[in-house]
Amino acid sequence: MIPLDWCITVDWFAGTGKGTASFLLAKHLGYSCLDTWAMYRVIALALLRAWYAVDDTAGIVSFLPTIPFRPQKDDHGGFVRYLGAEDVSSHIRMPEVSAIVSQVSKIPEVRSLLIRYQQELWSQGWLVADGRDMGSVVFPEAQVKFLFRCDSLIRAQRRQKQLGEQGIFQSLEDIEANIIMRDELDQHHIDALIRRFGDDVVTIDTWLLSPEQVLATMLDHVRSRASVR
Ligand code: DC
Repeated sequence: MIPLDWCITVDWFAGTGKGTASFLLAKHLGYSCLDTWAMYRVIALALLRAWYAVDDTAGIVSFLPTIPFRPQKDDHGGFVRYLGAEDVSSHIRMPEVSAIVSQVSKIPEVRSLLIRYQQELWSQGWLVADGRDMGSVVFPEAQVKFLFRCDSLIRAQRRQKQLGEQGIFQSLEDIEANIIMRDELDQHHIDALIRRFGDDVVTIDTWLLSPEQVLATMLDHVRSRASVR
């Protein structure tokens, strides 16, 4: 029996299949799926719309409390992505948002605001939390922690397919270049975070696995963790 008060974290770079795997795992366990990348993207979209330059940190920090974003559960086991009353789920995938989100996510005040929201959500119920710093910083006491890895070209192909499903076309070269650029921007920060993971983290290389195989691998680990409690 998997307890219903756990937090399971899924970390590492974009396009590794984290989102799909987190969603499937949460659905399977009856948990909520917290996709924290969407939160950083909602903030980046709000800044774009308000014409903030990404290096105007002082302006961004004073604008931050006025952004009408507050994560809340939806009816499908996830969280709404609203700016005020507007559902911005498709807007947050736009290339313009992808271009700045990495820099936005480095602003300490942005991180501390979103981390506070994320931690509040575990107190409201069990979670599969998908992000970069879930198992190390946000939920260090999580019961099971996964790190996903995958080749950049495969990640670009997956991202292109996701964008295509939303009617957005971007060339594979541009997507891969953006992924590599963001990996590099995130790297320093990620390296520091990864060092803060303990020995309890489970690394999964997803590039040869189908979503169902990834889910099965995760479930094996979750069940064996539950059985040794
Ligand atoms: O997974 P993604 O590329 O869509 O995430 C968007 C950005 O958000 C990415 O540049 C890193 C950042 N991010 C973060 O810093 N911490 C998280 N928990 C989730 C995402």
